[in-house]
Amino acid sequence: MEIVHTVKDLQSKLSALKAQGKSVGLVPTMGALHAGHASLVKRSVAENDVTVVSVFVNPTQFNDKTDLEKYPRTPDADCRLLEECGVTFAFIPSVAEMYPEPDTRSFSFPPLDTVMEGKYRPGHFNGVCQVVSKLFAIVEPHRAYFGEKDFQQLAIVRRMVSQLGFPLQVVGCPIVRESDGLALSSRNARLSSAQRKQAVQISQTLFASRDYAATHTVDETVRFVEERIAAAPGLRLEYFELVDGDTLQPITGWGDTGYAVGCITVFCGEVRLIDNIKYTGAADKG
Ligand code: PAF
Repeated sequence: MEIVHTVKDLQSKLSALKAQGKSVGLVPTMGALHAGHASLVKRSVAENDVTVVSVFVNPTQFNDKTDLEKYPRTPDADCRLLEECGVTFAFIPSVAEMYPEPDTRSFSFPPLDTVMEGKYRPGHFNGVCQVVSKLFAIVEPHRAYFGEKDFQQLAIVRRMVSQLGFPLQVVGCPIVRESDGLALSSRNARLSSAQRKQAVQISQTLFASRDYAATHTVDETVRFVEERIAAAPGLRLEYFELVDGDTLQPITGWGDTGYAVGCITVFCGEVRLIDNIKYTGAADKG
């Protein structure tokens, strides 16, 4: 694996490989890599001749300065994991390299980006689209890999790709969970051991809500989740929404969609955690 820090260097290496007809997969990350990232990277390595993993904590997508400062950074461990996964290039640019001048572009993909994270983290998806579109322009990958844990991000990136006509395939990869169900996240590293035990209630509540949903309405299911999280020590619910998985708009009845997804954001202490669950077969319910 080669570690590359500049756009110019990466592009010259990639153009030589593309000239030989090699396919390129891109996995954009913000580092602090874990088994969830490894699953995306391994899939890219399996499906492409060349895999580029970008490791860049993108300042433009943080609407909270403290969150940006506290975001875990583990470059040495990241490089070891990427090497083990068989990555071709780890692209680790500086902020000045990615943003030689302020990015003044605005992205807006309503109604996908006006709900949930878009409502609670204003500007977040604009920053995500800024950096992801830059990475697409730099790498010009054939395929780009994103995790389903960031369900809304994946929907917005797909929309950006179709509206801006990027000639690449977006590949969504399933959530990877700890054995007790907690969704893997770089932010989990910020949990104390007591908080780590409390955080498991997030996924446990989602799993229980899927059983509950089989015999209850959408409103009742939303209340079930809200009440369980409210009763869980150490957790504070920001939102739980049951939405159509394509439009991300809230549903009011199971018959509204054949693809119902529950998206949740919970604070465990100061750490903001997100997760989601699909309610399969929901279209048949009352
Ligand atoms: O999901 C993330 O880690 C980030 O939002 C991404 C896609 C790497 C853009 O910075």
